[in-house]
Amino acid sequence: MTELTIRCPDDWHLHLRDGAVMQAVLPHSASWCGRAIIMPNLVPPVTTSAMADAYRARILSAVPTGDIFTPLMVLYLTETTCPADLQKGAEAGIISAVKLYPAGATTNSDSGVRDIEKVMPVLEKMAEIGLPLLVHGEVTDSDIDIFDREAVFIERVLAPLRETLPELRIVFEHITTAQAAQFVLSGDENLAATITPHHLIINRNAILAGGIKPHYYCLPVAKRESHRLALLEAVLADTGKVFLGTDSAPHIDAAKLQPCGCAGIFNAPNTLACLAQLFENHQALDKLENFTSVYGPEFYRLPVNEAAITLQRHETAQPVLAPVETAEGPVTVFDPQMEIFWSVAEKR
Ligand code: DOR
Ligand code: ZN
Repeated sequence: MTELTIRCPDDWHLHLRDGAVMQAVLPHSASWCGRAIIMPNLVPPVTTSAMADAYRARILSAVPTGDIFTPLMVLYLTETTCPADLQKGAEAGIISAVKLYPAGATTNSDSGVRDIEKVMPVLEKMAEIGLPLLVHGEVTDSDIDIFDREAVFIERVLAPLRETLPELRIVFEHITTAQAAQFVLSGDENLAATITPHHLIINRNAILAGGIKPHYYCLPVAKRESHRLALLEAVLADTGKVFLGTDSAPHIDAAKLQPCGCAGIFNAPNTLACLAQLFENHQALDKLENFTSVYGPEFYRLPVNEAAITLQRHETAQPVLAPVETAEGPVTVFDPQMEIFWSVAEKR
């Protein structure tokens, strides 16, 4: 096969940032994806419908002419989020989802939730109006090993929340463990998960073996190989319950390459090429479109994109992509550490 045409994908978890960095990174998503769920962890975070509306306008004004790209806005949940504002934003079509960051779990999560009980009125309102909750599923307790934080979150927070409020529609974001895959696949239709390209491709050796590699550090941190294989199996099982969320999270190199470097992997420029290669390597190219372009809209109750995208398979492996230059400095692109023969040829 030398060409593959699929429905235009969406990205159900994307960090675009703001200002000069957004200007530089946004074209790398708009070139292949129709819609994206936009993460609200700016400084300050996007905590009201008015802020989400203003951020959406800034994003739209940065979309390159000729590209069709729809940002789907997300409200950052805090212990003081107002259920009425949230309902108004959802009904006005400004807000597509709400993000739960446990306080301290990741980049700019300090305003997140410390005590889930405090946000129950908001979650009840969301269950009532069918607005999805997007969950960064990690506990933050210092006595819990960082590699166990997702599995412990399921036991302590997610499973009890599903028991209390089964009607709440939840996306368990960027899952990284066999436990999370199992939890989602055995759940009902109100539970789904996103999976990133990097968690399908690398394991924790990429970060730590042969020298420390900050460009592979993200949160949740990549786990051991058996977990990567469980994620891949969950995707290839083609059940409709997991779909693409890149968690493309650009930080300029100067912020990553330091004694306390930022978490985040910037993969927007090569998401589809990496996924096509991975699916091809598993004789599963026929399942790529469901993962990138069908199951996400189904969960979000949106139509699939009308547009299509064509990928091209080259005879020789494609060069590793150069860093993306921004006015604040270069941002290194995810290196999948495997030969990639695919590239995106055209979105139409
Ligand atoms: O690696 C990550 N980077 N994980 C997150 O949850 C946040 C993100 C970011 O905003 O940089
Ligand atoms: Zn993220």
